[in-house]
Amino acid sequence: MSRQVDTEKVVRQHLDMEGFFAGYVIRSAKSHPSVEPLRGESNEKPPSGSKAGNAAEDLEAIAGEVRQCCKCGLGSTRTHAVPGEGSPTARIMFVGEAPGADEDAQGRPFVGRAGQLLDKIIAACGLKREDVFIGNILKCRPPGNRDPREEEIFNCLPYLQRQIETIGPEVIIALGAHAARTLLETDKPIGQLRGHFHEYSVGIGRPPIKLMATYHPAYILRNYTPETRGRVWEDMKKVLVELGLPVPERGKG
Ligand code: URA
Repeated sequence: MSRQVDTEKVVRQHLDMEGFFAGYVIRSAKSHPSVEPLRGESNEKPPSGSKAGNAAEDLEAIAGEVRQCCKCGLGSTRTHAVPGEGSPTARIMFVGEAPGADEDAQGRPFVGRAGQLLDKIIAACGLKREDVFIGNILKCRPPGNRDPREEEIFNCLPYLQRQIETIGPEVIIALGAHAARTLLETDKPIGQLRGHFHEYSVGIGRPPIKLMATYHPAYILRNYTPETRGRVWEDMKKVLVELGLPVPERGKG
């Protein structure tokens, strides 16, 4: 019986999601001649020796280290490590908490239900998944999807920091409390952190990167209200404006 209710809920959420995040009219970039194109638009491999090519090679080297990593106990419980994926020159980098069961099975970030919602959020912004980079604080799944432990974060965070330094995104979007609190080194609740820009420090001599915190897609699915989705959309619009990208309007469909 409860399984039946769950299935109905999932179907309803899916249909809602289609309407809410897919029903946007994307204003043509042509009507925004000053808009800087996204850096990661091409599917082609960037030439070796170019800035993008070097970044791609550096990211692959980091991914190789992550796949070999056994610095914490998660190295022995994972099926696959999940280094992260996307454009080596992305202007936007999404950072989640840790892989779940689907991600652990495939070795790719955000490919389960939360990932499908993230894809819709990205599409609602007028972007493609390959335009951005998607990573996590932890690169391996904590058993049973428990919260990341301090020593796991301590061991794993340097990989993400190196990915951020390599890509040099203009905006980091921290998905959920764990990502936002870890990157901003704070205990504040996500409700206080979301909705405005913070600064993520990449070290002395380098300008900080703008960081927007928003709700984790899994939280949106659990709290599937117009208010929650509206807040996430407000956060995304601020990011698009910050980057000078066109802000899609809600379509009638
Ligand atoms: N949740 C996360 O935080 N990251 C993933 O990759 C998938 C689900």
